[in-house]
Amino acid sequence: MFITWTENLSVANGAIDQDHKHLIGIINRLHDAIASGCGATIVGETLAELADYTGAHFAREEFLMDRFQYPEAAQHRREHAGLIDQLSVIVDQFEKAGAVEVTGDTMDFLKVWMVNHIQKVDCRLGSFLRQRGGAD
Ligand SMILES: [Fe+2]
Ligand SMILES: [Fe+2]
Repeated sequence: MFITWTENLSVANGAIDQDHKHLIGIINRLHDAIASGCGATIVGETLAELADYTGAHFAREEFLMDRFQYPEAAQHRREHAGLIDQLSVIVDQFEKAGAVEVTGDTMDFLKVWMVNHIQKVDCRLGSFLRQRGGAD
């Protein structure tokens, strides 16, 4: 398994944890599709699914930040916007050049970004929501 969800990745919010498990599942499928040398179609479809789900997940977190007036929302949103930009570069490169452009480095970048963001940034949001009674 490329990324394994464990309690180390829990942000103490059931809904956000579910989203993260789903996101990690998509990244793992993308990793497997690339590693097995599958055709470009499945890689392209999985990349599109990752971009869509990431956008939807970030929107759900941002909705909660607004609803509970999260003081660190601006910085958190900037991190989200940065990854959305990176994902669109990855999708563009893939569409221009095919599956070869989704490299091991790209997958490592996604893994490190996701794990760091969950543990350092989303965890703070989860704790805040729990204190405000907005968990789950
Ligand atoms: Fe986040
Ligand atoms: Fe998140």
